[in-house]
Amino acid sequence: MDAYDLLMRRRSVRNFQDRLVPETVVEQLLNAANNAPSGGNIQPVSIVVVDEPGDRRELAEMVGGQPWVKNAPLSMIFCVDFHRVKRWADMFDVEFLGERCLGSFLIAYADVMCAAQTVVVLAESLGLGSVYIGTIQSSMGKARDYFHMPEGVLPIMVLTIGYPKSVPRSIRKLPTDLIAHRGRYRVMDDATIRNAFESKYGSVDDHIESYFERAYIEVLEADKQHDERWSDRAKERMKALGIKSNAEFLFRLRYPQRVMVGMNEDLAAALREAGFDFPGIMSEPGGGR
Ligand SMILES: Cc1cc2nc3c(=O)[nH]c(=O)nc-3n(C[C@H](O)[C@H](O)[C@H](O)COP(=O)(O)O)c2cc1C
Repeated sequence: MDAYDLLMRRRSVRNFQDRLVPETVVEQLLNAANNAPSGGNIQPVSIVVVDEPGDRRELAEMVGGQPWVKNAPLSMIFCVDFHRVKRWADMFDVEFLGERCLGSFLIAYADVMCAAQTVVVLAESLGLGSVYIGTIQSSMGKARDYFHMPEGVLPIMVLTIGYPKSVPRSIRKLPTDLIAHRGRYRVMDDATIRNAFESKYGSVDDHIESYFERAYIEVLEADKQHDERWSDRAKERMKALGIKSNAEFLFRLRYPQRVMVGMNEDLAAALREAGFDFPGIMSEPGGGR
C-alpha cells in the first residue's frame, strides 16, 4: 500500500487484540521517533514506554479511566524534556533557559508531536493501530511522580498502541479546501463555514448518535465493566442544557469552554511544578473576557 492510501485509511483505534507488540517492533517505533525532525536538532524529547499491566492500569486512571489505555499492550508517554539538555549545558557552565522561554517550549512541543506522529504512521504501516490520549494534560503531576520524571520533564501526550480488534469505519472530516488556503488565507463567509460543519457532523441527532456509537460502543466492547448508563445520563444532560446544535454539543457539553479556561491555573501550576515558568506572559485572573 502506498503512503497516501495508508494515511487515508488510518483511524484512531480503541479496541485492541490481546496480543503483545514484539520488542523488535517497539524498537523500530522508538528508532523512528528518534529520527523525527527536531528544531535545531536539539531533541528535547523523551518517551516512556508503558507495557506492564499494573502501569497500564495506573496510566488509564491518570487519563480519566479510558479503558483502551489499560487494554492495549503498549502506550508511550511523549514528554518535553529539558532536563537532559540542561544537565548537559550545566556540564559546560552554559546557561540553558528553555524551561523559561515560551518559544523554546513551543518548539519542543512541536518536536514531541513530530516524534509521536512518526510512531503513528510507522505503527499503521506495521498493522498496528493507535490513539492519542490528550487527557494526560490533567494529570501531569501524577504521571511525573509515578514514572519518576525529574524537573524539566513534562508528559504532554500519550499514544496507545496495539493490534486492532476493530477499526472504526471512516469518519467525516471538513472538506480539504476549507482547511487549505492557496497563496493567501481566505476568510470565509458564515454560510461556507456553517455548511462545512453541517456536512461534517450531519444533524445534531445524527452527530450525537454516531458520537455515542463510535466512542461508547467501543468503550463497552473494550471494557464490559463500563457504566452502560453513561450515554443515557449524557442525553438527559443534553436535554437539560437545551442543546440543539453540534456547536453547542461540542463547546457546552463535551468541551465546556468556561470550565476549560478555568483549568488554566491548574495547568500553569503543573508546569511550574515541573520547573517550567515563562516570565513576562500576561495573565488575567478569571480568564479575561
Ligand atoms: C491531541 C489529541 C488528543 C486526543 N485525545 C484523545 C483522548 O484522550 N482519548 C481518545 O479516545 N481519543 C483522543 N484523540 C483521538 C481523537 O478523538 C481522534 O483523532 C479524532 O476523533 C479523529 O479521529 P481519527 O483519528 O480516526 O481521524 C486525540 C487526538 C489528538 C490529536
